[in-house]
Amino acid sequence: MNRSALPDPTRLRANDPCFCGSGRKFKRCHRASFDPVRAAVVSPPRSVPEEIERPPYADTGERSVRGEPDVKSADVIERMRRTGSAAAEVLRIVGDAITPGITTDELDVICHEASIAAGGYPSPLNYGGFPKSVCTSVNEVICHGIPDSRALEDGDIVNLDVTLYREGVHGDTNATWCVGTVDPLSRQLVRVTRECLEKAIAEVAPGRPFNRIGRVIQEHAEAHGFGVVRAFIGHGVGETFHSDLAVLHYHDPRDTRVIAEGMTFTIEPMIALGDWHHRMWDDDWTAVTRDGRRTAQFEHTLVVTSDGCDVITLHPDGAWSGEPGSSDDLT
Ligand code: MF3
Ligand code: CO
Ligand code: CO
Repeated sequence: MNRSALPDPTRLRANDPCFCGSGRKFKRCHRASFDPVRAAVVSPPRSVPEEIERPPYADTGERSVRGEPDVKSADVIERMRRTGSAAAEVLRIVGDAITPGITTDELDVICHEASIAAGGYPSPLNYGGFPKSVCTSVNEVICHGIPDSRALEDGDIVNLDVTLYREGVHGDTNATWCVGTVDPLSRQLVRVTRECLEKAIAEVAPGRPFNRIGRVIQEHAEAHGFGVVRAFIGHGVGETFHSDLAVLHYHDPRDTRVIAEGMTFTIEPMIALGDWHHRMWDDDWTAVTRDGRRTAQFEHTLVVTSDGCDVITLHPDGAWSGEPGSSDDLT
């Protein structure tokens, strides 16, 4: 395993010069973004107008398990392509609002309104009782962070996970952004995570084993000294938000299942700067790393075609949301 050559800002002492080159002491500059993320105030759930079609759990909070088939009909796939593209547009709109000082609750309002404006229901809202319309996961939060009154700090990294329900199907996509000036090691983490998803997508084709997906992700992450979170996985998606089909992000050679044309599922690797083990906050949603170090994530929904796959959560302009990664990151 090749440890990253980039300096680790968590090893900076309070009086050391900040990594950003300001000449100020770390403690007076970017240290606040390395304080542990703490739960803040969660505002009441927002309502969705009556004319918007609601998923079955919207009023009960139950997670619907309907035994949906892994291979979808042409009709479901057509609807998923439209919903996936709309989900990508919502993700872009919310991501464009990221700036130091904005609260994750304000990002939730933007997601909620943009989802409705797109004619859809924000799938996270009341899914298993989740209280908000988007997941916002900052720094050491791995996934399922609940939007609250915490303002984004210059130096943070933040993942936005948008899922939209429209025409009876879900489109699920997420990306990670850098907030203001972010240290090179965190930027490298974000870039490598994005590359993990790109490499995994390139492996998807009918007749191939599912375990290739986890293999390429784990190989790429570990080549940079990073860890793959095991506890949260990709999933079948369609008329149900999470169906039975499981997509591992690490290599399990015993997983002999084979990819088939017409399957729709997500790949959503969560990559850790340090150890991959997680723990849960008392809210039973927020997953954080046990060692407190940062993680990044990217997610797309895919449909398996006759000779590969199509990413159905692509923005109409073809570009991915989130931090593109930069060539000045060394490895
Ligand atoms: N969008 C997440 C995923 O990628 C699931 C969020 S569930 C919620 O699977 F309830 F937290 F919204
Ligand atoms: Co997902
Ligand atoms: Co998601």
